[in-house]
Amino acid sequence: MTSLAAKLAPESIKKLIPYQSARRIGGEGRLWLNANELEHGVHYGTHTDDYNRYPDFLPHDIAKAYQKYCKTDVPAVAVRGADEAIDLLVRTFCKPGADKILISSPTYAMYEFCADAMAVETIDVPLKGDLFQLDVEGIVEKAPLAKIIFLCSPNNPTGNLLSRADIVSVLEGTQQEALVVIDEAYIEFELAETVVDLIATYPNLIVIRTLSKAFGLAAVRCGFILANEDVMEFVLKLIPPYPMPDCSAKIVLDALSPEGIDIAIKSTLEVIEAKHTFINAIKENQWIEKIYPSSTNFVLIRTHQKAQLFNYLKEHGVVTRNQSHEPALNNCVRITIGSSESMIEVAQLINQYSVSPL
Ligand SMILES: Cc1ncc(COP(=O)(O)O)c(C=O)c1O
Repeated sequence: MTSLAAKLAPESIKKLIPYQSARRIGGEGRLWLNANELEHGVHYGTHTDDYNRYPDFLPHDIAKAYQKYCKTDVPAVAVRGADEAIDLLVRTFCKPGADKILISSPTYAMYEFCADAMAVETIDVPLKGDLFQLDVEGIVEKAPLAKIIFLCSPNNPTGNLLSRADIVSVLEGTQQEALVVIDEAYIEFELAETVVDLIATYPNLIVIRTLSKAFGLAAVRCGFILANEDVMEFVLKLIPPYPMPDCSAKIVLDALSPEGIDIAIKSTLEVIEAKHTFINAIKENQWIEKIYPSSTNFVLIRTHQKAQLFNYLKEHGVVTRNQSHEPALNNCVRITIGSSESMIEVAQLINQYSVSPL
């Protein structure tokens, strides 16, 4: 018999497949290199305050500290992770059952997931070629059909930056049509390439950021939306009443202090170095068809041995992400860059791997 809940739930929710986050997929392992987290904790300070009062309605001190970090005056607001930013933007600007968003696949799955959850359709204008760059003409042509264009730079799971000139062309071509969200979750691994500076010129540009990656604070849940006042006016209507738990807010303020930023920069440089050493150590393996250039804390590897490699690493306690569910990434495995010791171990394992019959 159909349950009451099943009778009441809208069709869009009944069809929805829960987002397959690394935690949800779970599994067993020793080295967790499947969620693009920083492998070891970074400690920014300790607090023993009381938590009996509701937190700030909008943590202005955090927003101010983040603007300073980004060297910008454009309005910033803290939310519980970049994922909440994506959800908030879809709910703010899209009408369920009527509106559409546009994405360029392969890309971060949460854009389409948040749209699906709201019965908002997703138009896909896939990334082009082996360099995974934007199909600017295709996007501009379809933009009038969409309310929001979600682009990710550097892109997850391909690892590359989108060309700044292409982003500008998209912004130029869609100014009267759609909001353009650039998800810069991994930008600290190539900070000079940020497009935050373009917000002042393009009123339709929104940048989302996170402290989950380079700052190593995935458990604290802090992300940011940076956009002009006109956009913020609507976003702030829907923002949860207490968007940031106080205990998170304190850690975030420490992380965004000059000392905190220095710690994050040092740890980011270590990850980048571990990435180069790792790539150099494995690149001669003939069964690896391609290691994609990476501007992030992960690398995407193309090999026909993808399932075998994924399982082999898993048997050795190393959990990675098989991207084969994405048609464009049919033979790809994504490996997060952990500490240099971990990556030396993973490189040794990969170099010891003997090719299995397909
Ligand atoms: C491209 C991209 N955007 C956003 C997020 C979500 O980040 P947060 O932890 O801030 O919700 C992720 C997490 O993996 C991501 O890869």
